[in-house]
Amino acid sequence: MQLATEDNITELAVERWGSAHDPRLAQIMRSLVRHLHEFVREVRLTEDEWMAAMRWLTAVGQISDEKREEFILASDVLGISMLVVQLNHEFDPRATPATVLGPFHIDGSPELENGADMAAGISGTPLFVHGTVRGLDGEPVAGALLDVWQADDEGMYEAQLDVAEARLRAKYTTGPDGRYCVRTIAPFGYSIPVDGPVGELIAQTSISHFRPAHVHFIVSAPGYEELVTHIFRQGAKYLDNDVVFGVRPELIVPFEERPAGPTPDGGSCDEPWLEARYDFVLQPAES
Ligand code: BEZ
Ligand code: FE
Repeated sequence: MQLATEDNITELAVERWGSAHDPRLAQIMRSLVRHLHEFVREVRLTEDEWMAAMRWLTAVGQISDEKREEFILASDVLGISMLVVQLNHEFDPRATPATVLGPFHIDGSPELENGADMAAGISGTPLFVHGTVRGLDGEPVAGALLDVWQADDEGMYEAQLDVAEARLRAKYTTGPDGRYCVRTIAPFGYSIPVDGPVGELIAQTSISHFRPAHVHFIVSAPGYEELVTHIFRQGAKYLDNDVVFGVRPELIVPFEERPAGPTPDGGSCDEPWLEARYDFVLQPAES
């Protein structure tokens, strides 16, 4: 029998957790235990601090439900979500970079024709986001699906509201030439939810709790890697201090002002509108 001492407890715990039956789980647990022990030793964690950490984790669990993902939010603000995205989507430099999904995507959005308005009945400056979906060599991708969602002018997503119908979200499909056209309203920067334990922790720092104005996309097509990304409005506030580290320079797009009149879908708009041109470039699927 080997009793635990301050000197050997780390090795004992690493060895014990290394007995996980799945080899990958064993590898993850060995490394996790080693790093956690190193952290506790490095900061010489006090018992009060340990208890505060336990209470904080409990609060993160207690506020979470199927609509409120406080653990994911914690991972987002610690930069872990974005690190995981970057490690797992090391695309060709020509491909559009991936970024965080965020907690507000809803499955099963309505399918709209190109140019149809996913913000019908919601006030805001009309915005047309249009361009092509292409492969690395510029080949148009016909039939690609774009799943699009965004917040309203108060920074609220449908997932945060009690509404019966799809709101500010839709799916569009590229035509034979790979073209798509989303009609929506201009997004605004917004605060992540700060009325829970993540917000409580952020309030004890100088961290900004805002995200820059953006529209989310999941672009998918057979033969290509699914692309989870956003486009950000050029010149928006918070681009250089996004609280979830999601901004990539390739995703910053000018939103150009246009007068009332013809629009990219071949229709017309009876008020001034904004135009964002963006070509999504997909990474071929690994065969
Ligand atoms: C979002 O962009 O929807 C988001 C991403 C991470 C945390 C909170 C919100
Ligand atoms: Fe968002």
